[in-house]
Amino acid sequence: MLPNLSSLKTDALSQLEQIQSPDDLPVWYRAWLGRKGHLTEALRGLGGLSAEDRPKAGQQVNQLKEELEQAFQARQEAVKNLALAASLAGGALDITLPGRPLQGGHLHITTRTLRKIRQIFGEMGFQVYEAPEVETDETNFGLLNIPPYHPARDMWDTFWVDDGVVLRTHTSPGQIRCMREYHPQPIRVILPGKCYRYEAITPRSEHQFFQVEGLAIGRNITMTDLIGTMREFTLKMYGESRRLRLRGSYFPFTEPSIEIDMDCMICQGKGCRVCKHTGWLEVGGAGMVHPVVLENGGYDPGEWTGFAFGMGVERPAMLHHGIEDIRYFYSNDLRFLHQF
Ligand code: PHE
Repeated sequence: MLPNLSSLKTDALSQLEQIQSPDDLPVWYRAWLGRKGHLTEALRGLGGLSAEDRPKAGQQVNQLKEELEQAFQARQEAVKNLALAASLAGGALDITLPGRPLQGGHLHITTRTLRKIRQIFGEMGFQVYEAPEVETDETNFGLLNIPPYHPARDMWDTFWVDDGVVLRTHTSPGQIRCMREYHPQPIRVILPGKCYRYEAITPRSEHQFFQVEGLAIGRNITMTDLIGTMREFTLKMYGESRRLRLRGSYFPFTEPSIEIDMDCMICQGKGCRVCKHTGWLEVGGAGMVHPVVLENGGYDPGEWTGFAFGMGVERPAMLHHGIEDIRYFYSNDLRFLHQF
């Protein structure tokens, strides 16, 4: 005997419509369409029918099966939407909250300092000249008037790459490259870049660091131009109230050579921990380009003169932001870098 298919259908659908929770869906499915469900039972009942009735009844059962499958799918979808609506209404997700901002990247403190230096010199008409970090002994030393075995070589502890090849110890070799490229025209450039020294790493010195070199070559350039340029730079970089102090110094590639200091911007020259109680901070080394160096660059020292300077980049950034240890700059600790 076949059960009454139409009442079976009514029962199945009315039970399905009442389902509210996703957990009840498989229970219904098992009861009606599962291996031991009512419909499977009905299919089994087909065996008891006469050969005449069987095909038609079989068709009806299969059709019902199909209908119930479809109704189940639809209910499944509806229950899912109900659950979503309920969770929204229940405040599990507050869609009015503002989004969380993404943590964006930003420029490194050194890059920002370099850009500021470039901008100040740019306003004074200096162009940027890029020179290589791996240099020859000849350019890093020899052509800068520091022959082999010259005692001044001790001023720069050197990383040797190969025989006659070094990691540049300062940006000064760029002077030679620039002069050789531009002679016999006037020059007004800065040369920013990374330098390397074979030195112990301490809170105040790294074995890699940045310098900015300056070079001006012309027909009537004097020490006054150098001092005026350094003065303009220092006031723009560190504040209009800074005062400069010049001290006689020695570099093999400048003559005369000077060291430029400014009054300490932390204590206004009164003396504090940062300036080691001297009231003064070092800006950089400088001088008039040595005639030998001019000649090596292709300029006739009887006709041309020039000035050059070199300054550090990390040190001023440290002063500006009260950073106590230069090693933070390149140790990639995001907690440090995010502060700037
Ligand atoms: N190259 C020098 C240094 O590294 C600095 C300097 C540059 C001095 C140019 C004079 C002129 O110490």
